Amino acid sequence: MQPRTVLKSVTLIAALVSLLAVAKAAIDGRERSESSSDDRGAAMRPAGSSMIEEGRRVFRYDTFGDEAWWGDTLQLHKALEGERFGGVGPGVTPRTALAVGLKVDVDALPRSLQAQLRAGRVSLDDVATTLALLKLNAVVGVTGHFQANGSLRSVGIQCAFCHSTVDDALAPGVGHRLDGWANRDLNVGAIVSLAPNLQPIADLLQVDVATVKTVLASWGPGRFDAELDKDGKAFRPDGGQAGTLIPPAFGLAGVNLHTWTGFGSVPYWNAYVAVTEMHGSGTFYDARLSDPAQYPVAARSGSWNTRGVPDLVTPRLPALHAYQISLVAPAPPVGSFNADAARRGKALFADKANCASCHVPPLYTEPGHNLHAPDEIGIDAFQADRSPTHAYRTAPLAGLWTHQKGGFYHDGRFATLDDVIDHYDAFFHLGLTDQEKRDLREYLLSL
Ligand code: HEC
Ligand code: HEC
Repeated sequence: MQPRTVLKSVTLIAALVSLLAVAKAAIDGRERSESSSDDRGAAMRPAGSSMIEEGRRVFRYDTFGDEAWWGDTLQLHKALEGERFGGVGPGVTPRTALAVGLKVDVDALPRSLQAQLRAGRVSLDDVATTLALLKLNAVVGVTGHFQANGSLRSVGIQCAFCHSTVDDALAPGVGHRLDGWANRDLNVGAIVSLAPNLQPIADLLQVDVATVKTVLASWGPGRFDAELDKDGKAFRPDGGQAGTLIPPAFGLAGVNLHTWTGFGSVPYWNAYVAVTEMHGSGTFYDARLSDPAQYPVAARSGSWNTRGVPDLVTPRLPALHAYQISLVAPAPPVGSFNADAARRGKALFADKANCASCHVPPLYTEPGHNLHAPDEIGIDAFQADRSPTHAYRTAPLAGLWTHQKGGFYHDGRFATLDDVIDHYDAFFHLGLTDQEKRDLREYLLSL
């Protein structure tokens, strides 16, 4: 063996030993917690709760077989582990992973590791730590599959990748899961761009890999473009990026149409995303997307009528739906808004500012057909025209305080709530005073 190879093997073995110790502790811990939840007994669960629990499992841990895309095809796992562990490039250290917005589930870590992390005794600059975290299933929304020799075989993603974050209880980016919260730190484009093989995306879009990378780099944190692989529109006509903000997946019970542009119901969109965006194995059908004028890429690829075998998505839709409907919007922390101003803002929202005519409390969207033409809210039609509806959906506002990062409206065009209010004030000629605008803002922060 050459000295370099020996060194490589020694580091690999050292990393594996610590990894295995950590993984064993995790498995022990998981076994304990599983048996204790069984002890509570199925008889004590209220009706429907087992479906919700199943939905939580799917939302957090089910990849629907999308490893075939992220791992086998795009080879993302090779970039994660880096060449030291049999992949390519430098690998992704925990520091890099946190910097691109990935989150670590503290409850998946054995106590010993939590203590070491708290004491700053875990290297955030060692790819081996990333692999150990993946082995523990502690990276929110990402599942690694390992070979017997400790290197990665493949990787898949879950709904939680984009629609969960953590409460930073242990450290920034490390904490308890917050399901349904939009991860506005997550730089999806930067993560996908790491994949060694972007050729399949280039082929689909009929562009070169460099162009794919330019597009992926254009979104920035908290954004993703779920229509690009249908209509091929990578940029707005004015040259701006074409991604939309990741919306929350809580507070959706009672809301009719979903997504920024009202593509359909929650289960509609879940099938769309799981099959055509995450590339899970399953069925998705929507003849509206076969229109070659509006959706040239989908018409060409046939993704509007995807019949993946086996179907790992359709059987999960009921539980996934139940879980999302069960997620209520979290109340804002005490003291995070001015309660007196919010009380005055509530009256303005209903009367002078007329917001409640569209944002009907307590859904804060219209019961019924909750869509509006772009000119009804005074914005351009670019994103609306990428939807079969050609409209914008009245955004439900509960839990607004959780997703202020990245701005407001579908593409974050308004950096602050004050900007949103100024827009409405000008567009609807509301004649709001500065005081009234501030009151309205405090009310929005109280939802
Ligand atoms: C790569 C990031 C990403 C992943 C993974 C992802 N989503 Fe989304 N999700 C988005 C974005 C972006 C939108 C907005 C899409 C639009 O309006 O065009 C969205 C929209 C939604 C909506 C609509 C919310 C509303 O306000 O109406 C729901 C519900 C949803 N996603 C659930 C899921 C579920 C369930 C999964 C897993 C099957 C999932 N998402 C996976 C990024 C993601
Ligand atoms: C004509 C219907 C209508 C009226 C009236 C209206 N809105 Fe909206 N609102 C919408 C629609 C549609 C969207 C989604 C825009 C988008 O997706 O880009 C929206 C989005 C928002 C958002 C951004 C939500 C997010 O998640 O980014 C806020 C905040 C908001 N409205 C507050 C208000 C306030 C405050 C008023 C009153 C001054 C008001 N709205 C009046 C239809 C309306």
